Amino acid sequence: MQTQVINVQHNSTAGTQLAAKLIKEGELVAFPTETVYGLGANGLNGEAVQKIFAAKGRPNDNPLILHVSRKSDTKKLWTQVTPMAQRLMDTFWPGPLTLIYERSNNIPDEVTAGLDTVAVRMPYNDTARALIRESGVPIAAPSANSSGRPSPTTAQHVLEDLNGKIPLILDGGMCRYGVESTVLSIIGKPKILRPGAITRHMLESVIGEIAIADSILNPLKEGDSAPSPGMKYQHYAPDADVIVVEGTPYDAANCICKMYASYEAAGKKCAILATKQTERFYQGRLYQVLGDRKAPQSMCATLFALLREMETKADIIFAEGLDAEEVGLAFMNRLLRAAGFRVVKA
Ligand code: TXA
Ligand code: MG
Repeated sequence: MQTQVINVQHNSTAGTQLAAKLIKEGELVAFPTETVYGLGANGLNGEAVQKIFAAKGRPNDNPLILHVSRKSDTKKLWTQVTPMAQRLMDTFWPGPLTLIYERSNNIPDEVTAGLDTVAVRMPYNDTARALIRESGVPIAAPSANSSGRPSPTTAQHVLEDLNGKIPLILDGGMCRYGVESTVLSIIGKPKILRPGAITRHMLESVIGEIAIADSILNPLKEGDSAPSPGMKYQHYAPDADVIVVEGTPYDAANCICKMYASYEAAGKKCAILATKQTERFYQGRLYQVLGDRKAPQSMCATLFALLREMETKADIIFAEGLDAEEVGLAFMNRLLRAAGFRVVKA
């Protein structure tokens, strides 16, 4: 299959219309959102949704998010829209927040992986919303990467993973947030299953105290069940080893320089994901600056792209840990998984 890429950054109408036509015909389309690129199919068509799992190599027991273009569309997808759901939608939608509630029975099992709940989100990105509106159906979409790889934040990343497997990619440029949406279950006591740009404190200011899943910063233990099936799989891993170094910026940078020297002496190609604060320690070595430690969002925005860039140049990638608070929690959740939880204390 030939994969066509259409740039929708300036005039998106023709591209969006072709994409909507493909969705209605039961085909797959990759499209930009404000978080990462999604791989979309008609969310009410089980056969179309199955193609997503095949293209990504995604395990069938990992459920998908339905993307809507209007808040009122949730009425058809959940058994009810609770006052809490309404408050959250009114505050954070459109935007990077996914809500999980009891599903209604018109949703194919392929979407929910047989669970009795369904995840729904209304993206902020204009192209994404135009595509959903034009298609006339909720669009089921995971991130548009091969399963296990870093999520795609440019159309080029999607092409790297899915070229020849899908008919169309809409190229909307680089994604603004760079990490996937916050996933919040609102059944019983609200609980964050995956952290993102909408933080715990932002949510608590609207609905009061919420819980955070243990698995966000820890690998699942043998025999544990995952609150969100996606958490049990290897995730975000580039084709290079990743080592996370925790400590003060100064200590972490020193430790990274020492490890860099010893791995290099052993014949390994090394690379560093630096920060604005520590860049000066790494002069003369292979590094790229993720962003500003004081603005973790800036580091989320570049993380997946720089993991993909460095995997082509290095065998080992060193990265500094951040405080796992607020947006730093989203950053550490992705980085620790990319590293397979390999952490060194400086
Ligand atoms: O920002 C995002 O959310 C992106 C863009 C494309 O919208 N999508 C995304 O989808 O990240 P995906 O499939 O890569 O991640 C969805 C996560 C998975 O960890 C999945 O297990 C979890 O949400 N999930 C989906 N439905 C669920 C459900 N009913 N119960 C628990 N977890 C669920
Ligand atoms: Mg994903």
